[in-house]
Amino acid sequence: MAASLQVLHDKLPLTDKCHHYDDVDDVPPHIQKYWHQRYSIFDYYDQGVQLTDDAWFGVTPEPVANQIAQDLCTKTSKTTLIDLFGGAGGNVIAFASSFHFTRIIAIEKDAATLACAQHNAEVYGVTEYITFVLGDSLHYLSLLRHNPSALDPAIRVDPNQTTIFASPPWGGVAYREHEVFDLSTMEPYNLEKLYKACFPLETTLFLPRSSDLNQIAELLASNEEDTKLDVVQYCMEGASKAMVVYVPESKPLHQDDEGWSIAVEKDYSQ
Ligand SMILES: C[S@@+](CC[C@H](N)C(=O)[O-])C[C@H]1O[C@@H](n2cnc3c(N)ncnc32)[C@H](O)[C@@H]1O
Repeated sequence: MAASLQVLHDKLPLTDKCHHYDDVDDVPPHIQKYWHQRYSIFDYYDQGVQLTDDAWFGVTPEPVANQIAQDLCTKTSKTTLIDLFGGAGGNVIAFASSFHFTRIIAIEKDAATLACAQHNAEVYGVTEYITFVLGDSLHYLSLLRHNPSALDPAIRVDPNQTTIFASPPWGGVAYREHEVFDLSTMEPYNLEKLYKACFPLETTLFLPRSSDLNQIAELLASNEEDTKLDVVQYCMEGASKAMVVYVPESKPLHQDDEGWSIAVEKDYSQ
């Protein structure tokens, strides 16, 4: 089981899916709009930043990623951060650059995208602070919950010291067509699935800007009556890029005789 989570000790090779475009004529038409914003996405773009063509749609622009990292650092007392959806590294590079966390783990299931993330972390000089993992982050969370000893020691964490960052795929750009985006329809992981996978850990969710706040409040209230949530719209050039929800941990995180497996008051593991 653990074999499907590969802790990387070396750089994955960049593949023919990884690109650094210098000339607009080389850029596929559907991503030219993003390429024109390349310096807002990665300030060091010209230092050789690499992206897959898909990653252009999902990467968090550097100023937003830096602000989120700064905000999370002021909110959390945790020392370990897990980025469940590492992508090409937009967020995890910002977290590493904050020098707030003593451990940072970035999980990404697509090898070419992860190769870009490792490469980009090197461009930004933060590779040594990040443990990169090739694999399925939901599988990782499941092992962390049910069978932590099956995890490679390099990615075993103390849940009491861990904060989760989740910037999942949003299922394409269809969310833009909705005044209020129904988070139960988000693909491939809807809000409930994500929340249950991360529960009871402190979690930061990076969601579409028009996400339905009522759904978020209802889900949280179903578990913790008095929980207060910070919900922040992160804007650039006058437009929101994302709604970020800071979910506090649910107490108690339980330590049992076998180690630090998570025991929860409300069992979401079914
Ligand atoms: C929106 S992007 C993340 C962008 C990232 N925050 C950045 O700034 O570069 C979502 C990423 O999650 C990856 N992904 C989707 N499901 C996953 C899973 N179960 N485990 C790990 N990665 C996953 C996708 O391949 C994609 O690269």
